[in-house]
Amino acid sequence: MKASDILSYSDPWTLFSQWYAEAQSNPSLREPTAMILATSDQTGQPSARTVLLKKFSPQQGFVFFTNYDSNKGHDLAVNPKAALLFYWDPLFRQIKMEGVVEKISREESEKYWNSRPFDSRLAGTVSKQSQPVIGSLDKIYDEAKNLWDNKEIPCPENWGGFALKPSMIEFWVGHKFRLHDRVRFTHSGLAWVPQQLYP
Ligand SMILES: Cc1cc2nc3c(=O)[nH]c(=O)nc-3n(C[C@H](O)[C@H](O)[C@H](O)COP(=O)(O)O)c2cc1C
Repeated sequence: MKASDILSYSDPWTLFSQWYAEAQSNPSLREPTAMILATSDQTGQPSARTVLLKKFSPQQGFVFFTNYDSNKGHDLAVNPKAALLFYWDPLFRQIKMEGVVEKISREESEKYWNSRPFDSRLAGTVSKQSQPVIGSLDKIYDEAKNLWDNKEIPCPENWGGFALKPSMIEFWVGHKFRLHDRVRFTHSGLAWVPQQLYP
């Protein structure tokens, strides 16, 4: 795909859906839904980590789930501006985006939580994400497993989804001789405006 092809799209959503589907059907990609989430704290210190994309739509944005009391949760509470980045090496494609993050509804978080397997819910309940482990994590997990044995584990209050609503999405395609293609879509308030950039 060349920049001229990307420029023919009137908005980034259709193209994102196409590339995402191609990534998902590529057997060389172990985690095509993995994306890097960059946040920053109140001092401006940036921080990045991988999270999994669980769904996306133009109305809601890009949704991932996490612990609201984690480092990223604290960052987003003080600065909701964030960035997401996918790099799919076998496709030699990158997508980066910037925007504002909001919590999704409690109802939607609970619905997703209840769809997760028992072991994922157990791990989510046990994990004080981003805090130091005191003692043995295996022991803490085993004790929780005995406690919750086959019971319904409720969605913790501090666990749920965030959605990033992008105001910029950039598509990058690698080519030989570093003549890579980049097209940035920015939302003007009314419509998406595409623009090719130097690589
Ligand atoms: C492939 C992969 C997928 C991950 N998916 C998630 C996820 O969906 N949600 C999450 O909270 N952490 C996920 N993690 C763990 C995070 O990268 C990170 O270690 C954790 O969320 C704590 O980050 P923080 O201290 O910056 O908040 C994933 C890690 C990897 C390597």
